Amino acid sequence: MPEQFILALDQGTTSSRAIVFDRQGQVRARAQKEFTQHFPRPGLVEHDANEIWGTQIGVAQEAITRAGIRASDVAAIGITNQRETTLIWDRRTGQPIHHAIVWQDRRTAPYCDEIRAAHEATFQQKTGLVLDAYFSGTKVRWLLDHVPGARERAERGELAFGTIDSWLVFNLTGGELHVTDATNASRTLLFNIHTGDWDDELLNILNVPRSVLPQVRDSSEVYGQTAEGLLGARIPIAGIGGDQQAATFGQACLEPGMAKNTYGTGCFMLMNTGSEAVPSQNKLLTTVAWQLGGQRTYALEGSVFIAGAVVQWLRDGLNLIRDSSEVEALARSVSSSEGVMFVPAFVGLGAPYWDPYARGTLIGLTRGTTKAHVARAALESVAFQSAELLEAMQKDAGQPLRELRVDGGASTNDLMMQFQADILGVPVVRPQVTETTALGAAYLAGLAVGFWGSADEIAAQWQEGKRFEPQMDAAERERLMRRWKKAVSRARDWED
Ligand code: G3P
Repeated sequence: MPEQFILALDQGTTSSRAIVFDRQGQVRARAQKEFTQHFPRPGLVEHDANEIWGTQIGVAQEAITRAGIRASDVAAIGITNQRETTLIWDRRTGQPIHHAIVWQDRRTAPYCDEIRAAHEATFQQKTGLVLDAYFSGTKVRWLLDHVPGARERAERGELAFGTIDSWLVFNLTGGELHVTDATNASRTLLFNIHTGDWDDELLNILNVPRSVLPQVRDSSEVYGQTAEGLLGARIPIAGIGGDQQAATFGQACLEPGMAKNTYGTGCFMLMNTGSEAVPSQNKLLTTVAWQLGGQRTYALEGSVFIAGAVVQWLRDGLNLIRDSSEVEALARSVSSSEGVMFVPAFVGLGAPYWDPYARGTLIGLTRGTTKAHVARAALESVAFQSAELLEAMQKDAGQPLRELRVDGGASTNDLMMQFQADILGVPVVRPQVTETTALGAAYLAGLAVGFWGSADEIAAQWQEGKRFEPQMDAAERERLMRRWKKAVSRARDWED
């Protein structure tokens, strides 16, 4: 029998990716394509869902070709996706009724303010989330209220809502399935993370009819097969996980107390809390890490909205660098940011502030400030934001963290990872395979079809690549954190 592989589809905020993994969890081939970001007005971010589908299926085909395998050698497909991004489409035609509203989009912030006093506690208790424009629920409501005729069509059962995982499965199966998994459902403000079902009280508050909702499934099971003629063979679709949860799985953070931080467009720190949904006292989120065999594992999550995107902004917004890879050398050309602090609150601030009205702030400039200091401050901002997440997480978990596993694009930046360890005071560990988001999706799919036998087999594949030990003394760390928090206070509550 020919060797078999798992194909992971990683549909992220700025690009669609596909990776072919072998049985050892090693990358055999990958393909990636960026797609258009639409910014209709400041604070609004949209995606064209047809472009997402087109790029995603394109890179899937390309990855199979590059791996030099046939579609029939793919044992299963695992899907992982940018979470919360909200789409409604017509069930019959398969056409979206509007661009997808991206997780970063702030348009529903005023509505969240309106209902906060009356409903915040209910949402937090049932969904583990804070009432913020980040999540899907208020975006669904906005679409139903603003697209002409949408609410009536929804009531007649003609429309389907989905996060991007649902949209990909719908298209991969030729319109046959309308499903999501519990991790993606847990980001909608509509899903009760304790009962594992959509919640009527929440649906009523947000005025979302049940008729638009997908069926919620496990994160690892065979949902269906790819449609005839799509990829050259009918392949089981067998894993779905929101990208941050998939990364937690791919990092083999399978035991309670283990945590990872992913440096992508944003930065997301998740700590496994086992079968217990730990409520946060420190403005973190309680979320579903994965659901296997009907059993949910939970996580505490800290979400930072702008991380790697700050480097993109240095490149595209300021033209400080031509290529993102140049940022490390530029930042290294100075030994410190010399007091410059950069709070990249371009779309407000996520955890632990949840301030949709904060805006980006560059402070501490002097005549001696150069672009190198700005680049360094930009990189450091990612580490400072993560340090605030860890502070909150340690308080919620009631225990110190032994190490932080890291992954995602910017985790390959040694300067940043050393600074991260310094400012956390905790060792930072980068695995050999940093494609952990896609790997997690592959693991979820592979487990469902018996490609891998057990979670233990997966945990045994995880291998340390590089370890960064904290070197900064505690007094300096505290001084820098105080300064960072002062800079954050200047960025807050800016937009009226
Ligand atoms: O919650 C948003 C997150 O899922 C986006 O991830 O990797 O596209 O920044 P990423």
